[in-house]
Amino acid sequence: MILNIMRSGEQVSYKVSTKEATLLQLLSEIKTTQDATLSFASGCRSSVCGSCAMRVNGKEVLACAYKPQSGDLVEPLRNVPVIRDLVVDMEKALSFNKVAQSWAVSAAKLPAITPEDASVNEVQSDCILCGACYSACPVYAVNPEFIGPFALTRNWRYVSDKREEDVAGKIAAVQSNGIWDCTLCGECVPVCPQGIAPKSDIDMLRNKSNVLGYMDPKYADFGGGLDFGAPVF
Ligand code: SF4
Ligand code: SF4
Ligand code: FES
Repeated sequence: MILNIMRSGEQVSYKVSTKEATLLQLLSEIKTTQDATLSFASGCRSSVCGSCAMRVNGKEVLACAYKPQSGDLVEPLRNVPVIRDLVVDMEKALSFNKVAQSWAVSAAKLPAITPEDASVNEVQSDCILCGACYSACPVYAVNPEFIGPFALTRNWRYVSDKREEDVAGKIAAVQSNGIWDCTLCGECVPVCPQGIAPKSDIDMLRNKSNVLGYMDPKYADFGGGLDFGAPVF
């Protein structure tokens, strides 16, 4: 089997013997038997930690879950700086969780919730921060400050939590470079290994924003010059 790996902008081909292996196992084989300088990140080896996300033939995958085909082209995630080979710097991407206020404000006095309440955002709570959706999102080509799919999904996870006391603050936090910058293209949905649909969560945040008096800034000028971000009651 031939595996092609993009290294420093150059495609390098490796012949690997192992069959029925995951991509991560084949990368390890190359590193131990052919080229010790090959760099990639991994942790749990069981689709839990999110550290091994990369692209194969242009689509984001977890290397520890993907079964390669001969001739596959393996590349690092997009929209993030490449440190070396398949290792990327997620610092800026993860910083958008702070911009989106992706935490529970009222944690100290949480009331009890029912299983039904928990099911509302159960899927969103499963995000492993692998960055696959961030890499698939085309908005970063025009706006590097876009808060992005996983941080917006996390924002919705707390906005939709009935225990959250500062819903208005969280909604305000995602108006600029956030929900209205998303094109709803859906590219972030099929790449998520956890079955999360950031596009749908962003749509829910838009609806919630409308209820709280915000509107899409693209249409603000048609309504008599409403300012972007100004609640309209
Ligand atoms: S739906 Fe929105 S967040 Fe998802 S990839 Fe498209 S533009 Fe990015
Ligand atoms: S939403 Fe899915 S694809 Fe995006 S970081 Fe979380 S687990 Fe990964
Ligand atoms: S090594 Fe942890 S998700 Fe792949």
